[in-house]
Amino acid sequence: MKPATSSTTSLWLDRPEPIAGQPLPAGDHLDDIVVGAGITGLTTALLLARAGRRVAVLEAGVVGSLASGNTTAKVSLLQGTKMSTMLRYQSQEVVRAYVDGNLEGQQWMLRFCDDHGVPYQLRDAVTYASAPEQAAMVDQELEATQALGLPTFPTSHLDVPFPQFGAVVLRDQAQIDPMDLLTALVEQIRSHGGSVHQGVRVVDVSWSGRRTVTLEDGATLQADHVVLATGFPILDRGLYFSKLEPMRSYALAYDAPAESVPDGMYLSAGPPSRSVRDVPTADGRRKLLIGGSGHEVGRTPSERAKVDALREWTAEHFPGAVETHAWSAQDYQSHDAVPYIGPLPRGGGRIHVATGFDKWGMASGVMAGRSISAQILDEAPSWQKTMSTRVTRPSGIGHVGLINAKVAVAAAKSLASAEMRPAPAEPAEGEGVVGRRGIVPVGTSTVDGTTCAVRAICTHVGGVLSWNDNDKTYDCPLHGSRFAADGTVIEGPAVRPLKRLEPEEEPS
Ligand SMILES: Cc1cc2nc3c(=O)[nH]c(=O)nc-3n(C[C@H](O)[C@H](O)[C@H](O)COP(=O)(O)OP(=O)(O)OC[C@H]3O[C@@H](n4cnc5c(N)ncnc54)[C@H](O)[C@@H]3O)c2cc1C
Ligand code: FES
Repeated sequence: MKPATSSTTSLWLDRPEPIAGQPLPAGDHLDDIVVGAGITGLTTALLLARAGRRVAVLEAGVVGSLASGNTTAKVSLLQGTKMSTMLRYQSQEVVRAYVDGNLEGQQWMLRFCDDHGVPYQLRDAVTYASAPEQAAMVDQELEATQALGLPTFPTSHLDVPFPQFGAVVLRDQAQIDPMDLLTALVEQIRSHGGSVHQGVRVVDVSWSGRRTVTLEDGATLQADHVVLATGFPILDRGLYFSKLEPMRSYALAYDAPAESVPDGMYLSAGPPSRSVRDVPTADGRRKLLIGGSGHEVGRTPSERAKVDALREWTAEHFPGAVETHAWSAQDYQSHDAVPYIGPLPRGGGRIHVATGFDKWGMASGVMAGRSISAQILDEAPSWQKTMSTRVTRPSGIGHVGLINAKVAVAAAKSLASAEMRPAPAEPAEGEGVVGRRGIVPVGTSTVDGTTCAVRAICTHVGGVLSWNDNDKTYDCPLHGSRFAADGTVIEGPAVRPLKRLEPEEEPS
């Protein structure tokens, strides 16, 4: 059914009371600076503040602006086909440590919710085959999860209105409204003497002595430790950009007849990804949430077509559902499917990163917070020690090669595509084009009545950008940086905006 209201704000971020701002701390008195106010950054900051440390969280947008406020927020240890995927690249010991860390993350989160009045619902998590050829993937996940000690079981029938060809189930997992959780985390950080600042972009961190964090306006702050909980790490030293794949995907919320909304949390084993859960509302109804259509950032001919495919799937299987919210977000997959959590290489043990959650960062984000805060407090849990012993096996080396080969192909394609057409003077409303002025790629767009031209070369390491026709943004097909139509940085490893161009200006 056609959207009743269409929006780019997620169901979770669509709330009347924004989280209040706070002035930046004055003076030089911080123990820790956490960059990024998603689930990872806020959990890390709270654990450090509770230990009596002086902590400030610096957030470029608002709390939850990126993945954590735009997730589907299933807090589950059955994670699609993640366990069988990780076992292709890592030892059973490392994957078991991931499971232990996730279990601790999930339990910590639910205890926190109980203690601070944050609602959550227990639901069965289900990975299902959406086509007969996915049945083997389901079987492998069943075998992998059971070998790792999870009490999963198979089923050949699900009470759902979409096709399924067998499934694996894990009972009593959880789902939340992530903004309820993030709001409570912010309150707790502040009540333990920490601070959370919004609209503050970090552009650099120094490598020696007390770490100096430089903000976009040139101001600096110092701390003993800096935690980069920024989704994609904003410093290149760990070469994470060569080992991470940025994956974008979409979510839609619907008002739907009560009897049509399934009770569990479902995810298809294979592509096209389809994720389903319910969302209880304050007036006792249940909304339907559909997610999926994932793809590599900046490498699809039309993002809008991906969302439309999700809409068509919902219309087919949930007739009568009326769309209320539509949004998109991205997360990062590591070369061996295990997140990178810990000290940044050559950061002197004082700069820490957490990334590569592969769309499973709810429990893993808390796991990362537990892990990094424990390293700073010198009390690492055993699962973290095991995870940090991981070595890249030949299968992982092969995957790094593949990631970089795909980057090279994407770079060549986006350059060739920009070279093929001259940049138009004034695209139609909502349209954008990457073409060329002279030999330089230029993006021209008209969004909300404003026509704007930018140098369409990513400020990270120079990828030629492509126009995202769903979000009206410029997306980098190399490592996933994204920029608004006026060139403002949205996310990814880039920290500097695109150069804006005058109508006839020849870019250099
Ligand atoms: C569509 C989608 C569905 C998902 N569904 C699930 C699910 O059902 N279950 C699950 O477990 N996981 C899910 N995930 C994954 C999960 O949402 C993420 O892994 C998790 O939210 C990551 O949290 P984070 O705090 O590490 O990153 P983010 O939430 O992305 O937070 C990073 C923060 O850093 C800020 N930042 C970035 N750069 C700077 C800078 N230079 N200066 C200051 N601040 C900066 C950003 O603005 C942002 O707020 C999903 C992800 C997506 C995209
Ligand atoms: S994100 Fe690396 S070049 Fe664009």
